[in-house]
Amino acid sequence: TLPLRIAPSILASDFSKLGQEVADVVEAGADWVHLDVMDGHFVPNISFGPDVIKSLRPYTDVFFDCHLMIAPVDPYLEAFAKAGCDGITVHAEAGPHLHRSLQTIRSLGKKVGVTLNPATPVSVLEEVLDDVDLILVMSVNPGFGGQKLIPAALDKISRIKSLIGDRPIEIEVDGGITAETIGAARKAGANVFVAGSAVYKGANKDAYRENISALVKA
Ligand code: DX5
Ligand code: ZN
Repeated sequence: TLPLRIAPSILASDFSKLGQEVADVVEAGADWVHLDVMDGHFVPNISFGPDVIKSLRPYTDVFFDCHLMIAPVDPYLEAFAKAGCDGITVHAEAGPHLHRSLQTIRSLGKKVGVTLNPATPVSVLEEVLDDVDLILVMSVNPGFGGQKLIPAALDKISRIKSLIGDRPIEIEVDGGITAETIGAARKAGANVFVAGSAVYKGANKDAYRENISALVKA
């Protein structure tokens, strides 16, 4: 079984000092850093792009888990790879050629991720199971941090867990993960937990350490 990983989302951090926020959260115990890229088109919010990720890369060696909420996505995959993303996750809803996007990420030498919005059925994964390293289950509608987990996402995680069988695919959950909800997501079968507001609350390194260990304990 794959290790439990906490992947703080810097979306909830202080954007005026992003480099420090990345370094602090890693020192506080983050396993991965989750980077939420939003284009104001695929989702109703705008965050940051490859140049910001590139400027964060020198602050840590930990895995940069890039969640691309952009459409079209294919024209930008190479830029995100070059910026220093270790894993690149694309939305199944972002275009008509999911398989092509996944192959492109593979050819760029990065870990390949696919993600599903809450209303997208698990069945879209059936044809790409052997092309992905990671499945990200959105437990909120993407676009904003600080939302409540949609409970139906838990059953969806269990169904994905049975679907993947013994393939070594990471199951990641994103949205509304707190000390109250993380246990249920773990039970359902997730091993990677994105948390934005639950990690970055308190706004200093000691708080981040406490917040991460509260998630791990829960
Ligand atoms: C939502 C993003 C999430 C978000 C999670 O569109 O994909 O990664 O930042 O934030 P919290 O943990 O606050 O729900
Ligand atoms: Zn995300």
